[in-house]
Amino acid sequence: MTFAEQMNADITLVESALERYLSRETGEGYDRIFEAAKYSALAGGKRLRPVITLAFCRLCGGDAEKALPFACALEMIHTYSLIHDDLPCMDNDDLRRGRPTCHKAFDEATAVLAGDGLLTAAFETAAAAKGLPAETVLQCIRILGRAAGMNGMIAGQVLDMGAEHRKISLDELRLLQSLKTGCLLWAACELGCTAAGMTDAQTIEKAHTYGEKLGLAFQIQDDLLDIEGDAAVLGKTTGKDARDEKSTFPSLLGVEECRRLAGELTEQAVAAVADMEGSGFLTGLARSLMGRSK
Ligand code: IPE
Ligand code: IPE
Ligand code: MG
Ligand code: MG
Ligand code: MG
Repeated sequence: MTFAEQMNADITLVESALERYLSRETGEGYDRIFEAAKYSALAGGKRLRPVITLAFCRLCGGDAEKALPFACALEMIHTYSLIHDDLPCMDNDDLRRGRPTCHKAFDEATAVLAGDGLLTAAFETAAAAKGLPAETVLQCIRILGRAAGMNGMIAGQVLDMGAEHRKISLDELRLLQSLKTGCLLWAACELGCTAAGMTDAQTIEKAHTYGEKLGLAFQIQDDLLDIEGDAAVLGKTTGKDARDEKSTFPSLLGVEECRRLAGELTEQAVAAVADMEGSGFLTGLARSLMGRSK
């Protein structure tokens, strides 16, 4: 399979599983919450995180189908983080994944609850994973909780909100971005390894480094796209970081230095997994994100 074929096959796998997991039951009078959750979750994101989970599972010799619940759980958590990130009390955004944000299409209370619902569904989905030792499932749940929680992505969002309208140091910015974006990316890598039954600490460390470096490179690209991107292609509004005087990589380092740094971090991600046999897909994925337009 070529890189693009593998990517498309994995996206299809993830999207059909997401559809299944989010359609369990709808009760009389509360269908709207499923509608809102699915509106955001099935809106056509890049599916980067779940695809990485499946790739690391294969790389570690596992059956990617068995990692699917964790891959989807992570995508649910990511989608919830986007719904909440867009709320008027946070980034106040109108456009996400090429359509009106959840709170615009529904209402604010429904968007808050759809986010909560996706976060909760993620843990239910992960806990219901089949065909793996209970200890493996537990370890995956721990990774999800750690990465998404108050020592992870949430901490990054807290720092991000606190860094509006003021200049922060490069070290503070690195910490903020690695928590905000890096955590869900290293979680994607570690979930794949763990679902494959990998317990070798060195291998998990390599996967973690790939996610961490890629996460930073990815956020730098995100910040650059906010400046230079085309909203119609990107599927979200541009210019909002400057509007909110956000502390971003370009605001601190300038555009040119950001491009160089994103390239350097991407190559560090690639180097982390270079000696793992079969890492070509992950190398291709990291490099394909350089100069992305969405
Ligand atoms: C957007 O993530 C938010 C960041 C962490 C930068 P993605 O760019 O992966 O969003 P989707 O999933 O493709 O919509
Ligand atoms: C959002 O970062 C990161 C999370 C949701 C955790 P941004 O605020 O930069 O993401 P976009 O640009 O709105 O997608
Ligand atoms: Mg934000
Ligand atoms: Mg935002
Ligand atoms: Mg952004």
